[in-house]
Amino acid sequence: MNSEPEPIPAAPAPEPVASSTSPVPVPVPVPGTPHRRRPRYSGKNPRRFEEKYKERDPSRYGDVVAKVLASGKTPAGTHRPILVAEILEVLAPKPGECAVDCTLGYGGHAQELLARLVPGGRLIGLDADPVELPKTEARLRGAGYGPDVFTAVRSNFAGLPKVLAGLGVKGADLVLADLGVSSMQLDDPVRGFTAKFSGPLDMRMNPGRGQSASAFLAAVKPAELVRLLAEYSDEPRADVLGESLAGRKVATTQELVEEIREVVGDMARDERETTVRRVFQALRIAVNDEFSALDTLLRQLPACLNPGGRVAVLTFHSGEDRRVKRAFSAGLEAGIYSSIAEEVLRPGPEERRANPRSSSAKLRWAVV
Ligand SMILES: C[S@@+](CC[C@H](N)C(=O)[O-])C[C@H]1O[C@@H](n2cnc3c(N)ncnc32)[C@H](O)[C@@H]1O
Repeated sequence: MNSEPEPIPAAPAPEPVASSTSPVPVPVPVPGTPHRRRPRYSGKNPRRFEEKYKERDPSRYGDVVAKVLASGKTPAGTHRPILVAEILEVLAPKPGECAVDCTLGYGGHAQELLARLVPGGRLIGLDADPVELPKTEARLRGAGYGPDVFTAVRSNFAGLPKVLAGLGVKGADLVLADLGVSSMQLDDPVRGFTAKFSGPLDMRMNPGRGQSASAFLAAVKPAELVRLLAEYSDEPRADVLGESLAGRKVATTQELVEEIREVVGDMARDERETTVRRVFQALRIAVNDEFSALDTLLRQLPACLNPGGRVAVLTFHSGEDRRVKRAFSAGLEAGIYSSIAEEVLRPGPEERRANPRSSSAKLRWAVV
């Protein structure tokens, strides 16, 4: 991972990892992963993240990984790229072009793009996450993409113009942003993103920067939390939740779940769990300042694209989609974009069934 491209001999063009009809990546193992003692678990199937060592070692346990994928689940420690065929169609990557993946994640979309950019092209992959980025970089290197074609940069995508300038790149031909968090982040209890497992209430994409969700909750004023819950996750009970939760000292994800359940105790179970999900979403957006980063990216995008450049943004909730729609429409009206998506593209029933995490995805695109 660096911020300076290094010249090395050109790599051969590797095969794409997912077909257009089956957006499921074949995980490439991280080279040099040290051998660890197997964790023991009771029962037939592992439940906890750390017990799922077979899913996290696809080179040795390909059959286990295939079974998990067939059941519509995401193998632990991986991420399944969404709307791959549609993204490839709107971004139309060609050999020799320069692409930016603003949200590299597991590298599923990046690997598909890279396969179409060689020979002669390159992909710059950004991610704010210092935990997953080195693993993804190692995987893509292992798949045959050297620093001449692939550059991994740990950066918030709000800093895209600076990253491009630092690499001596004038503009990109295509830009992808697949917003939110990856399955690796969601499924690892240590990252504290999910209500499903107990872990420290952290939620930072970069755990080395800023405040954890626990510190944020302890410091936030009630009126501010009410506003964030209403604005960031359309929470109908923002008032009562914000007033009750602000200033609380909550160390773990499970403690927060309990606190939320206590506040909305009279609700039906399904509705209560939806409330839990919405509170987690609003906190995550606040802790990572996600909307400011997205607004900054959308404002800077046209200047980062070459003439004829294409951009695709994948969103997962209304707050994100509203921003992308507004920015693209304003750009079209101002003559900055020559065309934009008139309708959002969404995963079809087959993809939603195969990967339920794709269900809320919406894709918008624009061309300068
Ligand atoms: C949904 S995942 C991307 C998955 C990826 N497309 C793939 O195929 O594996 C989103 C990723 O974007 C990163 N991310 C989210 N917001 C970011 C930001 N403002 N700047 C940089 N990275 C960000 C997260 O850390 C996460 O790794």
